[in-house]
Amino acid sequence: MKSEDFSGKLILAPMAGYTDLPFRLLAREYGADITISEMISAKGLYYGDKKTAALYETVPEEKPYGIQLFGSEPEILAKAAGILKLKNEDPDDPLFYDFIDFNAGCPAPKVVKNGDGSALIREPKLLAACITALVASAGVPVTVKSRKGFVRGEDHAVELARIAEDSGAAAFTLHGRTRDEYYQGHSDWNSVAEAASAVDIPVILSGDIRTREDAMRAEGLGASSLMIGRAAVGDPMLFHRIKTGETGGVSEDRIKAALRHIALTEYFNNSKYAIIEMRKHLAAYTKGLPDSAALRKKIFEVSTPEEARELFRKSL
Ligand SMILES: Cc1cc2nc3c(=O)[nH]c(=O)nc-3n(C[C@H](O)[C@H](O)[C@H](O)COP(=O)(O)O)c2cc1C
Repeated sequence: MKSEDFSGKLILAPMAGYTDLPFRLLAREYGADITISEMISAKGLYYGDKKTAALYETVPEEKPYGIQLFGSEPEILAKAAGILKLKNEDPDDPLFYDFIDFNAGCPAPKVVKNGDGSALIREPKLLAACITALVASAGVPVTVKSRKGFVRGEDHAVELARIAEDSGAAAFTLHGRTRDEYYQGHSDWNSVAEAASAVDIPVILSGDIRTREDAMRAEGLGASSLMIGRAAVGDPMLFHRIKTGETGGVSEDRIKAALRHIALTEYFNNSKYAIIEMRKHLAAYTKGLPDSAALRKKIFEVSTPEEARELFRKSL
């Protein structure tokens, strides 16, 4: 992949607990061009944590696909990227991925407390060192994702984009909120636009794209690509609507997507808890369906794919 491959794309945002393989593949079927794993601890990877590998597993059809790492120790990040690189190049069982995305934006207290995620916004030198270490060891392009600042009122978007570019990143994603805003208010798209005009690498806009109209407005601001997160949960069809301008029968589409999501989960996740783990996704598909409150309640009681399918089929 090259820097320009991050331009003109619709990207599914990385979302911990949501963007597993089945959901990423579903988003692609509806038109997402690029998908990214949820955030993976570089330390967890380096120390061989067993649960970590399941978080970044993929299939060759998922292309281009990025693995997102978080951490704040350049050596550990480099080692984690090196481990992935070895897996990528394993002739017997290659791990297919095309780029590494570095998380410098997660606002969660337990992440920030360790100096990871959005804590790096306050440590520009360390941020640069982390990106540089990843770029040197990854063997694939490295992209960076951050927020515009740490405390409300701050706007370091241009500075952060420049750090990413100067450290060798292939693209930079900005969620236009500060760390302490979490998900309040609206993503500051102007801040993304300013970052985009300050650097030559593609700048990807993240935050609050919920409709085709939002996407069209955001596109006009000069960002190279758009990233969609929360609005795709329960509505991966949004990618298709943005690309084609079609509207579609909303309830039927949601049920179809839910059924396909269940099928993909059955296929790729053989844990007996798979359906329980995806209940939050299933609940999101009920939005706008007849009797959605009652349906949602029942969804939190299903424990098998059959039960889940039955509930959605009844709503058709
Ligand atoms: C439940 C949830 C989990 C998230 N996990 C991650 C993550 O693992 N890595 C990351 O870079 N951003 C993560 N984000 C942030 C999103 O990628 C995105 O930047 C943010 O939600 C704003 O975009 P949206 O309005 O389209 O959702 C997460 C967001 C949510 C809501």
